[in-house]
Formats: sequence, C-alpha cells, structure tokens
Amino acid sequence: MNNNDEKHSNTPQIWAIGGGKGGVGKSLVTANTSICLALLGHKVAVIDLDLGGANLHTCLGVPIPEKTLSDFVTKQVDDIRELLTPTPIDNLKIISGAQDALGIANLQKAQQIEILEGLKSLDVDYIVFDLGAGTTINTLDFFINANLGILVALPEPTSIENTYRFLKSVFFRKLKSLIDNPLVDELINETMNAKLASGSPSPAQLIDQISEQDSELGEKIRNEFKNFTPQLVINQVRTPHDIEIGNSIVTVSKRYFDLDMNLAGTLDFDASVWQSVKNRKPLLMEFPQSRLVYNFEKLINNLLKNKGQ
Ligand SMILES: Nc1ncnc2c1ncn2[C@@H]1O[C@H](COP(=O)(O)OP(=O)(O)OP(=O)(O)O)[C@@H](O)[C@H]1O
Ligand SMILES: [Mg+2]
Repeated sequence: MNNNDEKHSNTPQIWAIGGGKGGVGKSLVTANTSICLALLGHKVAVIDLDLGGANLHTCLGVPIPEKTLSDFVTKQVDDIRELLTPTPIDNLKIISGAQDALGIANLQKAQQIEILEGLKSLDVDYIVFDLGAGTTINTLDFFINANLGILVALPEPTSIENTYRFLKSVFFRKLKSLIDNPLVDELINETMNAKLASGSPSPAQLIDQISEQDSELGEKIRNEFKNFTPQLVINQVRTPHDIEIGNSIVTVSKRYFDLDMNLAGTLDFDASVWQSVKNRKPLLMEFPQSRLVYNFEKLINNLLKNKGQ
C-alpha cells in the first residue's frame, strides 16, 4: 500500500459494505477495511448501519458506544459528531447503530437523508458503512448512495443466490429512482416480479426496451449505471475453485444486469478470525502476520484504484 492517495478533506468518500446474507463477513471486512484506511493515514469514520443488530464495535475491540444513531434520529443528540467514539486505532472513530431502539431499522426517508447529510458533514476522508443482512429499503438506499458499494459473499450456493438477489434489489431500486413515467414503471414491475424461467426480459434487456420507447431516458439510465460498479469480495476462500466462483458472479452480472462488477479481492478462510473475535481484538492488530492481512492489503489497494471510476 502507499501513502500517496489523494485526501478528501471536504466531502468524505462513502464506502458501503453489504451482502444479501447474514454471517458472510460484512463486519469483518468493514472493520479491517476501515483499519487499513486509517493506517494509511486517512481519517475514517466507520458506521454500524446494521440497525437493530449492531455488533461492529466488537470487531474493533470497543465496548458498545454510549450514544448511538438512534439518539440522533430521536433528536436526543443534535450534532452527529457527538456520536463519534474513539477506537484503539488513531484516525479511526466509530458510530454505532442502535441495538434496541424499535423503529430505527425502518427509518423514514427524511431520517435516512438526515443521517446521510450529517455523515457527509463529518471532517473525515472516508466513511465506511457496515450494512445489515437482507434487502430492506434502508440497506439498499445506503448501498446506492455510497461512492463505492462492496459486496461480500461466500463461495457457497446460498450466499451466491443471495448476492444475485441483493444485486437485483439494488438494480431495481436504483432504476425506479431514475424514472417517473408510469408506463415504464409498469414494465419494470413486470420484469422485477417475473421468475427467471418465465422468458421475460433480463434487466439488461429491459433497459434496451426502455431505450426503444424513450431513447433519452435510456441514455440517462445507461449513464447512471455506467458509474455503478459494485466491488465483489469472496470471503472464506479455501480452494482456487472458490476464486473462480467470484469470476463467474462478475460474468453473470454483466450478462444479466449489464453491470460492471469487479472482483476486488478474496479473503482466505483463516482460524485467526475466530480467535480475534473471541479475544475482541481487531484481526489486523491481533495477527499482523496472518495471510488474511496480506489479503486485506491487496483488497484495499484494488478498492482505492477503483473508487474513482
Ligand atoms: N475469512 C474468515 N475465516 C474464518 N472465519 C471467518 C472469516 N470471515 C468470517 N468468519 C467467521 O464468520 C463470522 C461472521 O462474520 P461477520 O460477523 O463479519 O459476518 P456478518 O456478515 O457481519 O454477519 P451479520 O450478518 O450477522 O452481521 C465471524 O465471527 C467469524 O467467526
Ligand atoms: Mg455484521
């Protein structure tokens, strides 16, 4: 890694880490990606957006922060900066999601915008989101609003299926946000709800159809999606075949969604993860010699290369 990356002292770069399925390693990737960025000299705020199931603080070796995002949403705290809690790593602060507050998992659009605006005003270079599992509206919107969306998947069928499900949900959420034509909206709904085997158009073909009906709209959609390049991370890799699965996901996403995904990195299965979670210490600090640390360095280098696309 190098230290020469351009700093973003005005508007922070937002990286969102998601993945359809629970337990695939989102928090592990979030914690260690944030640590890598902080060690490179960037100012980083890591945000636990697994609203309702926040546990990122454990991956970073800090007790549950006293003030959480729910205090901000419920107006107990006016200034989002008050939520920034120091971690053992210089340059890295955490904002915790709520563990218990009912309702925060179902933020209203206005509250979502308030959180995003508040975060963008922070004096940091990078904001890293740890998103919850699943495809709730909030999770999709936080992913779509990030500068870089990172998807974590395991090389196993259920996780791969969930990755496509997540991509499909993100694709349609983003597409619908670009359109206010009821006829086109109807077409989208039909494709979105169609079963794969039904012979209905793929999302990529749908955009072709929209272009035929309204070329200007088609152009606008293509431009928006051109900059939408989710970064894939395959976690818990045990064999070379597992890495191939990552390449297949990229190929299928191009064919089916016409999305330019990128296999940004692979992370080996490594018992030191379990050990570091058990010790409540960040992996990167606890086992600096492990192969996973090398995997993370490569991953962060790739992400830094791709962030500007
Ligand atoms: N590369 C790895 N090698 C070994 N074990 C791993 C690896 N990645 C994750 N794990 C194990 O999987 C568990 C789940 O990881 P993590 O909590 O990061 O997933 P998550 O996607 O954030 O889960 P949730 O959806 O519950 O928030 C970890 O506690 C760890 O034991
Ligand atoms: Mg998690």
